[in-house]
Amino acid sequence: MRTQVAIAGAGPAGLLLSHLLRLRGIDSVVLESRDRAYVERRQRAGMLEQGTVDVLRGSGVGERLDREGLTHHGLELRFGGAGHRIPLSELTGGRTVTIYAQTEIVKDLIAARPAAGGEIHFETEVLSVDPSAPSVTYRRDGRVETLECDVIAGCDGFHGVCRPAVPDTRLHEREFPFAWLGILADVPPSTDELIYAYSERGFALHSLRSPKISRLYLQVDPAEDVAAWPDERIWSELRARFATDDGWELRDGPILEKSITPMRSFVAEPMRHDRLFLAGDAAHIVPPTGAKGLNLAISDVIVLAEALGAWYDSGTTELLDAYSDTCLRRVWRAEHFSYWMTTLLHKDPRQDAFGHRLQLSHLEYVAASKAAATTLAENYVGAAPTL
Ligand code: APR
Ligand code: PHB
Repeated sequence: MRTQVAIAGAGPAGLLLSHLLRLRGIDSVVLESRDRAYVERRQRAGMLEQGTVDVLRGSGVGERLDREGLTHHGLELRFGGAGHRIPLSELTGGRTVTIYAQTEIVKDLIAARPAAGGEIHFETEVLSVDPSAPSVTYRRDGRVETLECDVIAGCDGFHGVCRPAVPDTRLHEREFPFAWLGILADVPPSTDELIYAYSERGFALHSLRSPKISRLYLQVDPAEDVAAWPDERIWSELRARFATDDGWELRDGPILEKSITPMRSFVAEPMRHDRLFLAGDAAHIVPPTGAKGLNLAISDVIVLAEALGAWYDSGTTELLDAYSDTCLRRVWRAEHFSYWMTTLLHKDPRQDAFGHRLQLSHLEYVAASKAAATTLAENYVGAAPTL
């Protein structure tokens, strides 16, 4: 088999890249180790920057997003028993963010490929890649075969095989002494806007998926076993962490799904070696507090699609040569913001009383100062300059 661009991984990065390349008349083949039902069901992020929405809409996969996406103009920081609204749109010249689950984007992108196209191969595991004589070795139905190509896009996530094929990478990593227990619940959200809550008991986040489905998260110990969290314990802990002095109430209901995700910051530099280009979680991870992971994955492949378009059109390598640096500027801005939001809002078990008081003072400042709130808003909506 031969194609122009071989893409490892059918997450949002790989699928959108294949879609953007097709619009430019460039052929690609996506190889995905899991089956289609699995990638369409996997619960992940859900907050889209306006730039992300614009690209999905502009490339013809925004129809359901426009119908079902929930536009947000602000968020709430909650601490000390009270809520403090950050008016995101007001502070960023009218920009908004949109709630639309990553799983829905994945479904829309899979549905958008041409009926006759064999561009996505599920249950096809990439075994190794050769960045210099560009090709991908994969296993499908028990047979090992090779896909020859001009370029390889490593969109195979944090645990994929592409990143190790970049020699001499500089790895930057930080683990946090906490994880998120996330739930999807069959209950109308108790809030219109997201609530990021800091409490003595730890962080909690109230997000949503639709007018009928809530998505909530609790800070837990990374060693925590999800089996230790029956539904009633989860709801009672959420109620305690979201409690306000004015008696705000959290609606509860059947929990459809629960899982624990570790939190880490991670960047691999550079994001390119020879004909291999890394994109999305394969190259970088952010803790989810800043809602940046999905937006970064999408912004990487926009840069890559444009650079490949220029190369195929005119032979220029300028944009391809700049790919890693271009992406990493935005990646590091998001890394800093995500780290900042995470340390601002979580209860760090290593923290002493002094550190704890500093954190509260910082929260009060962000809630009270227009300059500090603007910093949060600009980064959250994806409008921060990247120099
Ligand atoms: N061969 C083929 N496919 C693979 C292999 C392999 N060896 N290893 C991993 N994959 C697949 C995974 O099954 C997954 O479907 O690569 C895909 C990577 O997708 P994601 O992990 O979703 O990564 P990405 O597309 O970069 O999207 C990043 O996902 O983790 C969230 O918050 C993050 O929203 C962000 C987004
Ligand atoms: C989500 O809705 O899943 C979500 C929203 C905001 C975050 C993280 C996750 O910061």
